[in-house]
Amino acid sequence: MSFPQNRMRRLRRSESMRALVRETTLDPGDLIYPLFLCPGNGVRKPVSSMPGVFNLSVDEAVREAEEAAALGLGGLLLFGLPDTKDEQATGAWADDGIVQQGLRALKSSPAAAKLVLIADVCLCEYTSHGHCGIVQKNGDSYEVDNDSSLDLLARTAASLARAGADVVAPSDMMDGRVAAIRAALDKIGLINISILSYASKFASSFYGPFREAADSAPLFGDRKTYQMDGANLREALREIDLDLEEGADMILMKPAMPYLDVVRAARERVDVPIGAYQVSGEYSMLQAAFEKGWLDRDRAILESLLGIRRAGAGFIVTYFAKDAARLL
Ligand code: PBG
Repeated sequence: MSFPQNRMRRLRRSESMRALVRETTLDPGDLIYPLFLCPGNGVRKPVSSMPGVFNLSVDEAVREAEEAAALGLGGLLLFGLPDTKDEQATGAWADDGIVQQGLRALKSSPAAAKLVLIADVCLCEYTSHGHCGIVQKNGDSYEVDNDSSLDLLARTAASLARAGADVVAPSDMMDGRVAAIRAALDKIGLINISILSYASKFASSFYGPFREAADSAPLFGDRKTYQMDGANLREALREIDLDLEEGADMILMKPAMPYLDVVRAARERVDVPIGAYQVSGEYSMLQAAFEKGWLDRDRAILESLLGIRRAGAGFIVTYFAKDAARLL
């Protein structure tokens, strides 16, 4: 049947009609809010390239989490800025590390503990050089060593899980880290802690503002020998298959907007829950447009998230989580 018998506009005539035929929904419970924990008390330090995002001391993070819970958000993703950094990323796996302290405090707040607490597992915020693994220097050249990094990543995940993380989320992109983390968790009896692996994480310019927020920019070189080449979709699918074989319970795709085809392809290929990360650069780019008055803030926030859901993500990590929940 075609025009004039068929008229697509019939089903767009009113908001109630549009709501009835809407294919994709957004719910505050689908949104995960990232927090950057730092030492101290009463600290709320703005991140200049991410308006509305702060480095928070643990007490402030608990307040933030209580607000997130009241808004009905699904969970938190925790990052840490340690007091000191070294070559072994001690702050990542120390039992009194900043995220470990944060997890214990969050777990002791009944409101915050209702959120799914996800701990990012990576070394870059904790190493003196800012790489995601152990660096081996060889004269003028260097190598981010895969296998020696696995032990520290596994130790980090175990320590975060002991401190109260419900989910550990490795974002380092070393080969074999999911298996190493699963083995480490099982060995200490934490068989019910789940792994959300950043299965396909691309070496992206859109992480720029995060590296200010987390103070994690590499001092030399870049992350292209471990994060993926942005040109590769088939390779992303292999990464996903491997992480699932190694024991990942859920996968996270990142960045979101420039890689929505990858989210869609992943959704069609595997049946595990899939999340997507609307990363710092995606957030900052929109914020800059809002400041200039070039985009309608409320509509652009929701449209950017809806697009990610429509591509196939079940949940979304986003710095807009609280703003979006207020709009929904
Ligand atoms: C740690 C990590 C990064 C992000 C999440 N985990 C930074 C990076 O890989 O350089 C980026 C998140 C964002 O940009 O919002 N490896």
